[in-house]
Amino acid sequence: MTDARQGLSGLLDTEAIRKDFPLLDRTVHDGKKVVYLDSAATSQKPRQVLDALNTYYERHNANVHRGVYTIAEEATALYEGARDKVAAFINAPSRDEVIFTKNASESLNLVANMLGWADEPYRVDRDTEIVTTEMEHHSNIVPWQLLAQRTGAKLKWFGITDDGRLDLSNIDEIITEKTKIVSFTLVSNILGTVNPVEQIIRRAQQVGALVCIDASQAAPHMVLDVQALQADFVAFTGHKMVGPTGIGVLWGRQELLEDLPPFLGGGEMIETVSMHSSTYAPAPHKFEAGTPPIAQAVGLGAAVDYLTSIGMEKIHQHEKAITEYALKRLLEVPDLRIIGPTTAEDRGAAISFTLGDIHPHDVGQVLDEQGVAVRVGHHCARPVCLRYGIPATTRASFYLYSTPAEVDALVDGLEHVRNFFG
Ligand code: ALA
Repeated sequence: MTDARQGLSGLLDTEAIRKDFPLLDRTVHDGKKVVYLDSAATSQKPRQVLDALNTYYERHNANVHRGVYTIAEEATALYEGARDKVAAFINAPSRDEVIFTKNASESLNLVANMLGWADEPYRVDRDTEIVTTEMEHHSNIVPWQLLAQRTGAKLKWFGITDDGRLDLSNIDEIITEKTKIVSFTLVSNILGTVNPVEQIIRRAQQVGALVCIDASQAAPHMVLDVQALQADFVAFTGHKMVGPTGIGVLWGRQELLEDLPPFLGGGEMIETVSMHSSTYAPAPHKFEAGTPPIAQAVGLGAAVDYLTSIGMEKIHQHEKAITEYALKRLLEVPDLRIIGPTTAEDRGAAISFTLGDIHPHDVGQVLDEQGVAVRVGHHCARPVCLRYGIPATTRASFYLYSTPAEVDALVDGLEHVRNFFG
């Protein structure tokens, strides 16, 4: 054990937690234990979530909101029960404000399309502006570019400072009376930065703009209270928070969901249909056309139960300790440059870095040979790489099951990378 590890406090009992995650027991490359440091891309799944998926398919599988037979009613109760769990998890004032989508990208696209097809006062058109930031995931850039192209609206964005924070020095010029929507990430998936939500929301509210928050990298890692946040929309995905893939969430304020038009049309989102026109079901069903991801929602419900049983504040403290330790150890590696904040303050558990002029893909490959799984590339946030003049980064990201020993394995692996490339 290194000296630095001895002072760590707030850690979870990872020995017990890791027993819930079968994949963490895997080995690769002739018996090398997997050191999974890519939870920002997707988290591993505990047995409790896998069991919920299996039980759903083995005992309760039927379509929802349609059948009158017992199993169909069970499936509906499980699906709607998952909505209750998610609503409680994010402290939503109403369960009807929780829309199930297939992922955070779909949630953000849904908001962009709601606004694109909306009437006044929400409509985005050529006289209006859309605001985002340079540190967004592509899923919070491209939908707004598409909307701007379609409507003629102007797309504006906040830049990033050298140390990986949002540059809000020109906030009054970026968010103006013309701004219809401000959409930004709570935690950057590439830099790890936690953004100053209050300051941005205050300015947006001054000019009457709506606010949409991408909480994909926040919901898994900290207490997410949509009432405290005071945004209008919050998007996140299930698979990064120990749930299955194929399920995302869009939370929206009830009166907005009542006023705004649906995006996808189809089964179950209607009230009446004739060959001339249709009327729509109330939210959330208005925004959930077709057979929804039922098993995935049930799995997300189990994920929420799992995270809640451990406690989001405890998970947050654990990650903070691991991140602090990882930053300290990584900064000791010669030629390593952290891309993003270098202290654990207002920072999440994803750490991007470059290592001399060794290409991140080479770093990732040599680390993999040691069993260490990290993500390399632009992390679907290419404008960030352009901002720092680098083609890509290596990113290590941590979660409730990550241990200080895994940080050490990463650092040892990087030493190996440096030796390998001379
Ligand atoms: N958005 C995921 C990541 O940051 C895929 O890796």
